[in-house]
Amino acid sequence: MVAGLRQADVLVSDGRIVQVGSDDGRGGALEAPSGAVVIDAGGCVVLPGLVDLHTHLRQPGDEEAETIESGARAAALGGFTAVVAMPNTNPPLDSASAVRDVQSLARDVPVDVFVAGAITVARAGERLAPMAELARLGVRLFTDDGNGVQSAGMMRRALEYARGLGVVLAQHCEVASLASGGAMHEGEWSARLGLPGIPASAEEVMVARDLLLAREVGARIHLLHLSTSGSVDLVRAAKRLGVAVTAEATPHHVSLTDASAATYDPLFKVNPPLRSKGDVDAVRSGLADGTIDAIATDHAPHRAETKDLPFDQAPPGMIGLETAVGVVLTELADLPLAQVVAMMSTRPAAIAGIGPANGGAHGGPIAAGHAANLCIVDLEATWVVDPSRLASRSANSPYGGRKLTGRVRHTVLHGEAVVIDGEAQR
Ligand code: DOR
Repeated sequence: MVAGLRQADVLVSDGRIVQVGSDDGRGGALEAPSGAVVIDAGGCVVLPGLVDLHTHLRQPGDEEAETIESGARAAALGGFTAVVAMPNTNPPLDSASAVRDVQSLARDVPVDVFVAGAITVARAGERLAPMAELARLGVRLFTDDGNGVQSAGMMRRALEYARGLGVVLAQHCEVASLASGGAMHEGEWSARLGLPGIPASAEEVMVARDLLLAREVGARIHLLHLSTSGSVDLVRAAKRLGVAVTAEATPHHVSLTDASAATYDPLFKVNPPLRSKGDVDAVRSGLADGTIDAIATDHAPHRAETKDLPFDQAPPGMIGLETAVGVVLTELADLPLAQVVAMMSTRPAAIAGIGPANGGAHGGPIAAGHAANLCIVDLEATWVVDPSRLASRSANSPYGGRKLTGRVRHTVLHGEAVVIDGEAQR
């Protein structure tokens, strides 16, 4: 909830907001108690800590690319106070012991990590994972991300279970038989570059199928990283019909097109692929009119030696935690700040079940009694992205050299300043 902008001090104690200065003609100034840590937010906006629905932390299995600790530091530097960790690790997060391991590794890191569980064992689409057991450990979101659940029958069964458990399924919409072998969006650029294409229908067929299934079952569904104009139309129509669907889009799908592949630089390879200008415009419109609820990074670190391969052989994925706010504020500069907050904090917190309506500590509001999870952003600061200076263990950002406007200055997690003046404090 953003009730508007005003100038005010925010007093925090024991992890909670105690007081927000009032409009009493003194600019919202409050007396700092003696011994208090004072963080200067002059010239900045204080926002609810950002929430990322889609983060690959790579631990266990590929700690050279990222660890829970390094990913959490990157998240905090990016203004996030909560991330949902994707289960396509090695081993995958499809069992209670695997989930417990990640939860315990994530205990002392500078962001709250919420584990997503796999929908099916080994994300192979053949047998349901023990969803009830994982839900008892606090898992609220299930996904086979990296893969879509190919069988409609399996997806329907998973939706039935999810409805019963009160959890949400998040689908990576990709029909393997349409996408397999593809390296980039199928269109004019793929034809010109001679790279095998992934048609828009690879995403849209599964979006349509899952909207029908969710409606029939009466279950909630969240659609990950939507990238095509057709997907946005389908979700818009489904919402009008009352289907319980939410959707996310990534910063890269609103800022980069398939023309980037012209360099053959694998940094621009991602799944779903960067699409046409028309698709990018449609995704932006979907965000603007609320068809797409949230922005999620799909932060996908890859080691240089695995990523630096010819375009068609390189793994898909780009890092995004530390650039998300800058890219969104720069590329979607027309959107009111309140809407950016809704897309990057309030709504993702609600979707993940970690907002105040669920007794959670994320997504705001900035008001007395609420958890002190905050990010403080300088909306005017310009900076040039240098991937080698980011905190992520991997440097596969497509934004190297790009000038962004808007930078996170401080991040406060449960009342502790984990980032001060752009420096991680732990
Ligand atoms: O580009 C992507 N990379 N898309 C995915 O769905 C998975 C991710 C990864 O894990 O690298």
